Amino acid sequence: MSSIFLLIVVLTTLFLLILTLIISQTNKRKLPPGKTGLPIIGESLAFVSNPQKFIQDRMNKYSPKIFKTSIAGGKMAVLCGPLGNKCLFSNETNKLVTTWWPRSISQHLIFPINANSLPSKSIYFDHSFLKLESIQHYVSIMDAMTKQHLEAKWAPHEEVKVHPLAKEFTFDLACRLFINFDNSEQTRELAEPFFNVAKGIMSAPLNIPGTAFNGAVKGGAIIKEKLLQIIKNRRDELQKNGDDLKKPQDLLSRSLVSCDENGKFCSEHGIANKIIGYLMASFYTTSTTITFVLNNLAENPHVYDKVLEEQLEISKSKATGEALSWADIQKMKYSWNVVCESMRLTPPSQGAFKEVLTDFTYAGYTIPKGWKISWSVHTTYKNPEYFINPEKFDPSRFEGNGPPPFTFVPFGGGPKMCVGKEYARIEILVFVHNVVTRFKLKKANPNEKIVYNPDPTPTEGLRICLQPHQI
Ligand code: HEM
Repeated sequence: MSSIFLLIVVLTTLFLLILTLIISQTNKRKLPPGKTGLPIIGESLAFVSNPQKFIQDRMNKYSPKIFKTSIAGGKMAVLCGPLGNKCLFSNETNKLVTTWWPRSISQHLIFPINANSLPSKSIYFDHSFLKLESIQHYVSIMDAMTKQHLEAKWAPHEEVKVHPLAKEFTFDLACRLFINFDNSEQTRELAEPFFNVAKGIMSAPLNIPGTAFNGAVKGGAIIKEKLLQIIKNRRDELQKNGDDLKKPQDLLSRSLVSCDENGKFCSEHGIANKIIGYLMASFYTTSTTITFVLNNLAENPHVYDKVLEEQLEISKSKATGEALSWADIQKMKYSWNVVCESMRLTPPSQGAFKEVLTDFTYAGYTIPKGWKISWSVHTTYKNPEYFINPEKFDPSRFEGNGPPPFTFVPFGGGPKMCVGKEYARIEILVFVHNVVTRFKLKKANPNEKIVYNPDPTPTEGLRICLQPHQI
């Protein structure tokens, strides 16, 4: 009897000791301030419906340096301000975190791949297609396609809806440069499922018929199947006609040729993932930027006039019918400042999510391994300390040295900085050149509202009245 009593005392003491140890360890780890919201959905709905308000409210309430939340199915720390951005972009911290995609994307749009078992890891991570030496050769193709698009879809009308047209154009261009589709029927077959994915992939993850998310899941499955077929057919074509196609321009053929030249049979799933990644990464960002640049040009005639002057100088230096070149893009300095100011006022990308690989401390708080971590453009863009009179559209902020370091970060920074920055810069500037040298712009509804989902979307598609220049 007494030995049973002794055993109970020993076990209870042991249990209490372990409990005290766990509690003291937990207390040592001071977690960031904030709330994680409802189970499963966390605070996702508030974030998606207005990312800027979401971030600013929490910075005011909890801390201007860091706060915790739960978005897209995981506990998350948001690092704020230029120092937060610097921390996440720096090499050192990059060892502590890795890229993370919300589950809706990784489960339904990307083929599962174990990077270590890839026949060629390099093809998965190689972005040479988007490097400057490749991308500058695409300027003339982008120019020709923009001219065709404006002739067919803008010129016949007195009023256009810019946002849907910018999306259509961006997708057509991507299909041409990534997959070498020169036939609009092939592009349309991919466009329908892709647009369903884009509409629903960040919506509430309710996979039941009729929901936007269900549309995205179905669209994702169709795209994956179609891309695999396209890749297989192209591989066969290249093997048959290899010598004629030794210097292919498009991403798909380049990827396949580079695999063969290296003597490696690259995984078709890996190549499909890369194309899906580029399509997703380029689609909303670039089309949203084009839309809001044109919105700002229509709202600010004095800025429009300066952009037109710069673009006419370039047109005058060219022979009739001569395409824009890489050198012309370098001359579009004021126009690029206008694009930057537009991206600051209405950011096309909110920031990025990462996953924490090992516990680390920031601003006195521990961010545990397995948490998600994020930087957001909204922690600096509207702060008067970095952007005086922040609601004003003022491209002159980007003259000289421009904004302070790590405050204007539309493409991120450090080793994970957007690899499509130059592609986007060329596409947007070529589009602006062709629109302003052809049309004057006036908003059909000056009070048109913008909603977020989480990307900014004009409620009526941005209706613009076009007035062709008198030549
Ligand atoms: C205005 C247009 C664009 C903006 C604002 C933008 C912004 C961004 C941002 C913020 C990131 C995340 C950086 C990070 O993880 O910290 C990113 C990554 C990426 N972007 Fe872009 N992007 C744009 C256009 C494009 C285009 C046109 C392409 C492809 C042609 C592209 C391809 C990518 C890829 C592949 C990544 C992932 C890079 C990696 O994880 O290594 N982006 N972009």
